[in-house]
Amino acid sequence: MKVWTKEARYRVLKDPEEIRPLHEQIRQSDYRQQYHIQSVTGLLNDPNGFVYHDGVWHLFYQWCPWGAVHGLKYWYHTVSSDLVTWKNLGVCIRPDTEYDNKGAYSGSALPTPDSLYLYYTGNHRDENWVRKSYTCLVDLKDRATPVKLPPLYGPHPDYTEHQRDPKIIHNEENGKYYIVLGAQTKEKKGCVIIYTSDSPTQDWHFAGQLKVPGFEDFGDMWECPSIEKISGYDVLLFCPQHLTLPGRGGTVHHNGYLLGHMDWDTLTFTPDNTQFHVLDFGFDSYAAECAANLQDQNKATLVAWMGLPDAAYPTDEEDWSGCLTLPRELRVRNRRLIQQPLDELRQLRGKAVDLESTDLLPRVCEMELISRGGDLALQLFAKEDGTGGLSIRYDDGAKEIAVDRSGLNRRFNVEQGECRSRPLPKGLFHLRIFLDRSSVEIFVNDGDAVFSSRIFPTREETRFLMDGDASVRIWPLKSAVKDDFVV
Ligand code: FRU
Repeated sequence: MKVWTKEARYRVLKDPEEIRPLHEQIRQSDYRQQYHIQSVTGLLNDPNGFVYHDGVWHLFYQWCPWGAVHGLKYWYHTVSSDLVTWKNLGVCIRPDTEYDNKGAYSGSALPTPDSLYLYYTGNHRDENWVRKSYTCLVDLKDRATPVKLPPLYGPHPDYTEHQRDPKIIHNEENGKYYIVLGAQTKEKKGCVIIYTSDSPTQDWHFAGQLKVPGFEDFGDMWECPSIEKISGYDVLLFCPQHLTLPGRGGTVHHNGYLLGHMDWDTLTFTPDNTQFHVLDFGFDSYAAECAANLQDQNKATLVAWMGLPDAAYPTDEEDWSGCLTLPRELRVRNRRLIQQPLDELRQLRGKAVDLESTDLLPRVCEMELISRGGDLALQLFAKEDGTGGLSIRYDDGAKEIAVDRSGLNRRFNVEQGECRSRPLPKGLFHLRIFLDRSSVEIFVNDGDAVFSSRIFPTREETRFLMDGDASVRIWPLKSAVKDDFVV
């Protein structure tokens, strides 16, 4: 495994030509995605600044140019008119001031009539590598030219150095702006701290720590928090770290949510019950962000990093890593978030596979299964002799669905567990599965649960097998992201 020095990880990108050879190299990879956003080189992690503005979807991501390593982070900019086909626009925010000298970390966007503002964490480190976080602001002029404004505020002295990921919220009821930040108390408890102002660009001051009754001791840091209004509910989304949760194997970093009520006067989020809901039941999903500026309060659009902190992936040895999930439509049904693939994705479907004549599974495809009841067992990318593959099993007696990637040749993050399951008290009736060259997203029962995971099938893993009573359709999918070198 490659050893990264601090210098190599935090090297400043001066000229795009420095990384063109890296891009040419990774373009040859068998695992480059066809319809998921992925980094042009190096590592992608969190989605940032997701927003619908003047008819265009803007989506940025955390990007380290040099390899599959967390180092100096930039905001990389992509745009779309339909959330399906994406165009690379290149680097947007560079870590080039004293406030963000060691990274332009995660954040969010606020569209106004005159501008598109981007709020991010300036990750400053001094010569002793002591960290200070600043909430920084960029005015994205003409939707393309980033102009840095003075930072809004620096680190709060009552919390540790972990304070980051500003989510900007405009409260239409009282007219105020709020920024929620992920933070860690001095007692090493994860929390959310809140700043407020009457203006999006100045006079910000500390409002207090968010009270979340019942969740005072729930992980040691909360990354990427946000408070959304969806279908009449307030939803607190966040990523608690270093926490063991039942059913999540050895994974200690999670992305989940609470449903409840937000009181902005007392800064209290009162959960409906004590249930922390996991957002995605798969192996690889983190730092989810909802798009800002959707006029429809009944639903939201969410995208996440299809990856995890402190995890390694098979493409690390090819010097790149990471992609985003498909954007999903969120609604609340029966006091839970329902996540569905977007209708617009149907435009990528090619001619349905004739399953009478082949059991070869296209590497890039969508599958739809309607169960007629009973147990169901699927093997995706099984070997020629019918063994192995990604196994998706529904046990009708136990009323539980399980996804197991231990049967694939390329195994990774094994210590975090290779099987994930989710109870389905009402049984299994429907599956929609999206396969790209190195990922699988499984939407169960019309979005009641979703499993997102990276998988890396080899050339000898090609077959689709099913045991059970279900109708199946498979469509190959067209490409929707261009692997362009735009920096
Ligand atoms: C989450 C995170 C954020 C931080 C960013 C740095 O994955 O650690 O808290 O802003 O990634 O890339």
